[in-house]
Amino acid sequence: MSRSCEGRVVAVTGGGRGLGRAHALAFASEGARVVVNDLGVGLDGLPGADSPAARVADEIRAAGGEAVAHAGDIATSEGAASLIRTALETYGRLDTLVNNAGFLRDRMLVNLDEDDWDAVLRVHLKGHFLPLKHAAAHWRTEAKAGRTPVARIVNTSSGAGLLGSVGQGNYSAAKAGIVGLTLVAAAELRRYGVQVNAIAPAARTRMTERTFAEAMAAPDGGFDAMAPENVAPLVVWLGSAASAGVTGRVFEAEGGRITVMEGWRAGPTVDKGARWGVAELDEAVRGLLAGSDVPGPVYGSQT
Ligand SMILES: NC(=O)c1ccc[n+]([C@@H]2O[C@H](COP(=O)([O-])OP(=O)(O)OC[C@H]3O[C@@H](n4cnc5c(N)ncnc54)[C@H](O)[C@@H]3O)[C@@H](O)[C@H]2O)c1
Repeated sequence: MSRSCEGRVVAVTGGGRGLGRAHALAFASEGARVVVNDLGVGLDGLPGADSPAARVADEIRAAGGEAVAHAGDIATSEGAASLIRTALETYGRLDTLVNNAGFLRDRMLVNLDEDDWDAVLRVHLKGHFLPLKHAAAHWRTEAKAGRTPVARIVNTSSGAGLLGSVGQGNYSAAKAGIVGLTLVAAAELRRYGVQVNAIAPAARTRMTERTFAEAMAAPDGGFDAMAPENVAPLVVWLGSAASAGVTGRVFEAEGGRITVMEGWRAGPTVDKGARWGVAELDEAVRGLLAGSDVPGPVYGSQT
């Protein structure tokens, strides 16, 4: 049986650990040649001692696959451009970009320093935008030269971005921004043969294994639902030619469960046909809210 990503070249940011590593290995086992990016930073984004991208590329090669490591910072123009260049110079093409790299600086809003805000917005939001922009520019050139690609981008949002998460104001804002970016990219890049979707994963990685120790624990036997390898098949499918026609969508993926997330849509509405007086709005707005769905609870909230 032919493998789903035979002949494709896939770049995975933050592919040295956790979910990104699982995605990189899964793409390789489906026949893709993989550019494994990872800067090798600590949990908080500060410089780390090791080189996880090289380790995962070695792992793929040891299993008979093809991979090259890229150790740049994807939240810089040079790092993002050189990631795309590495794919083109090493393998002559790029078919799929998986934006996944990131880290956390969790604090309650009143204690959240400007640096922690900037660092988290930078790595997630800018770290999605820059590789996407450089990959898209390449695919646009290809399309204009009459070689319309079957290109795919898979972005990584989070339940924190979709519903909010107490203590993660910076991260929730960045991950919500990634959903907006996904919608715009899907609309703008469709004409160049590029599909763009996002996932909101949940899995046991260094990012979650302590904070959610109980929920993330591996069972003694049976299905290990929180293993990051459970999220990878959906990412591979979205990153393959098989997902033709699927773009601008957000999927939650955890264990064996895949959920299509349905976003903002217009609820109850009222139009007076003239400017409202503030005093009238008490009744009007409360009336609208009475007929609307109550939003899901923010993660970690008491109410
Ligand atoms: N684990 C979960 O349950 C969960 C839930 C929701 C969203 N996510 C998201 O999934 C993605 C992967 O997270 P994970 O849990 O595997 O974490 P992880 O810490 O295991 O892996 C993230 C990797 O990104 C790398 N990285 C960080 N900054 C980088 C940069 N500037 N350039 C290149 N590489 C960089 C790190 O070195 C690390 O290896 C993140 O975007 C995270 O926010 C994870």
